[in-house]
Amino acid sequence: MAEMNFVSNLEGVEVVPESYVCPPEKRPDVAVKKTIPVLDFATHDRALLFQKILDSTHEFGFFQVINHGVPKKLVEETMSIFMEFHSMSPYDKRRECSKDNKSCRVFTSSNNYENEQTHFWRDCLALTCHPLDKNIHFWPQNPPKFREVVRTYCVAMEKFSWEIIDMISEGLGLEKGYLEGEMSSNRRITANHYPICPNPSLTLGLNQHCDRNLITILFQDANGLQVFKDGHWISFDSVDDAFLINFGYLFEVISNGKLKATEHRVVTNAKASRQSLGYFIFPENDVIIEPAKCLINEANPARYRSLELEDFYRHFFAVSTNTEETMKYILA
Ligand code: OGA
Ligand code: NI
Repeated sequence: MAEMNFVSNLEGVEVVPESYVCPPEKRPDVAVKKTIPVLDFATHDRALLFQKILDSTHEFGFFQVINHGVPKKLVEETMSIFMEFHSMSPYDKRRECSKDNKSCRVFTSSNNYENEQTHFWRDCLALTCHPLDKNIHFWPQNPPKFREVVRTYCVAMEKFSWEIIDMISEGLGLEKGYLEGEMSSNRRITANHYPICPNPSLTLGLNQHCDRNLITILFQDANGLQVFKDGHWISFDSVDDAFLINFGYLFEVISNGKLKATEHRVVTNAKASRQSLGYFIFPENDVIIEPAKCLINEANPARYRSLELEDFYRHFFAVSTNTEETMKYILA
């Protein structure tokens, strides 16, 4: 088994190690700078907000949200506690995550380290965060305030996420409660740390992919996320205090293609490290995901098939998250 080194421990290297050098066709080159729409969630007109979500998703695959109700100070505290975690020694990080390997995992690059062609320039701490009381005992106890801060963050994110889910559910015309319970109760947080990289033109922080969940709510402390839309890579500035939101394959299936999963990647930076916090909403593993019945009729037949999630995930990883192959699998 290949030795799994955290990228954090490479900080300071002057040359990118061979195993992190992407093949030429995968290296990040030009990206066009655009502006991703910013939605103000303090707006009372929910129908208008939903229309903006549709428009922005259609044009860019992502949208930004401000006035989301998650206190700025809490986001900062959470970012810094995860930063502290990533700066601990490899031994300490592994020890803090050894209580249970499902609720809490620290790893580097991708989920597929052993088999991937190239490693990615990121370290990641992934936590299961729902239900909180069942999982929190397995989370790190160091840095000392870790559990307290991350718990508060999860509670705030859960509240915010329901605002989004309810708005979309209503906007799409789904049955009330369709997305509640086991449809969306599998929640995970990832804290991605992308250290300074000596040569960003050779590396990626994360490869080109669509997310395999329902919705992702991301906070980034510096630019680095890029979106692939209509054949072009788009870079953008995220506004202060905003969350970035995108849909995964499972929402594309449920909405019968009204909402689309969009490819994205992370580029690295030679001047500063970067951290992102992802909040991922998944269904429980034994749920069947299919186009919602109310969105299907003679004029709009189901465009996707029913997915057994464990099979779907297995396939997604077997094709190394390749989008074309994944689409072939989910289309009817
Ligand atoms: C992801 C992802 C982006 C980022 O974890 O799926 O796309 O900026 N992360 O870390
Ligand atoms: Ni992603």
